[in-house]
Amino acid sequence: MAIFGSETTTDQILEGVDLNGRHFVVTGASSGLGEESVRALSSAGASVSMLARNPEKIDAAADRIRASVPSADLEKGIVDLADMSSIRSYAESFLQKEIAIDVLINNAGVMACPRLTTNDGFEMQFGTNHLGHFLLTNLLMPAIRTGHKPRIINLSSAGHTHSDVDLEDPNFETTEYSAWESYGRSKSANIHFTRELVRRYGDELQSFAVHPGVIITELGRHLTPELMEEMVERVKARSTSSTEAKQTGGLPFKSMEAGAATQVWAATTDDLAGNNGSYLGDCKVGVEGGNPSENGYLPYIYNEDTAKALWALSEEMVQQEFPSN
Ligand SMILES: NC(=O)c1ccc[n+]([C@@H]2O[C@H](COP(=O)([O-])OP(=O)(O)OC[C@H]3O[C@@H](n4cnc5c(N)ncnc54)[C@H](OP(=O)(O)O)[C@@H]3O)[C@@H](O)[C@H]2O)c1
Repeated sequence: MAIFGSETTTDQILEGVDLNGRHFVVTGASSGLGEESVRALSSAGASVSMLARNPEKIDAAADRIRASVPSADLEKGIVDLADMSSIRSYAESFLQKEIAIDVLINNAGVMACPRLTTNDGFEMQFGTNHLGHFLLTNLLMPAIRTGHKPRIINLSSAGHTHSDVDLEDPNFETTEYSAWESYGRSKSANIHFTRELVRRYGDELQSFAVHPGVIITELGRHLTPELMEEMVERVKARSTSSTEAKQTGGLPFKSMEAGAATQVWAATTDDLAGNNGSYLGDCKVGVEGGNPSENGYLPYIYNEDTAKALWALSEEMVQQEFPSN
């Protein structure tokens, strides 16, 4: 097994890897970690469906990738994960093309936004980060099941430490809205979803939840000085933070190439065969109770009952059942 770590880059992960003939679908591909993942995967020969909600932004991202990888085999798709009708129509059109999906990377995300709702009335962070990807993944499952050793990678975050999911009040109807609690709920949901996919599909597919590290991207667009201060205090108060983080609340920043490395590793390595369903960080398997800025996670994210209940709640919310056979 290769030894990778926090500074490993996407290109290092893919050194000597040939992805010709493999098809990847990446959500949130119009910027940040999604765009860098597409660039890296394309450079290793993969064909990629780049998904985003904004046509101008996806065109610009595809142009940047082609400037760096002239041979990139890219297809663009418009899907708004905060709108179930958009997800349904994208999935329907994708399935008509009968393209097998080898790897789906559920990378899109919104962080710490004000209290907003999706087109269908769901709280925005849970609705986009979890429910949007829950629906998209399940609708694309026929194409994923025809993929070669298929995988589903779900972007989570050390932010899962802010909160577990709230199955009683997923839309903050009775609890007071908190931008960080909401982000935490949605990023814990990404892990529960990963675990439940593996429980339901067994060896038929692999799924991993990824903390990429802390990278300066457009994800911070909603941050105010007050939210930054609150985040620092939360990091200091985390029982599992490193000694340095407890004192300063500081987080180690990564480059874009190192930030996208863990999801590219999860999507392509053969080294994780014995760790299906794991939470990953810094290109390593997660450690319960470890430092969340690296690959540490809190134990509640591996609770099987929560994962089963979240799946049932999500089916109820999107008004569709997804049996695994
Ligand atoms: N950066 C970090 O430090 C960090 C840390 C931990 C976890 N993560 C996770 O990493 C993932 C990627 O984030 P990033 O840092 O690369 O942020 P980013 O640059 O803001 O990229 C997020 C992507 O998601 C898209 N998106 C947002 N809402 C969407 C919607 N309703 N429908 C479709 N696409 C939507 C964005 O499109 P628009 O530009 O059109 O909004 C953008 O393409 C996220 O899941 C995030 O939670 C990031």
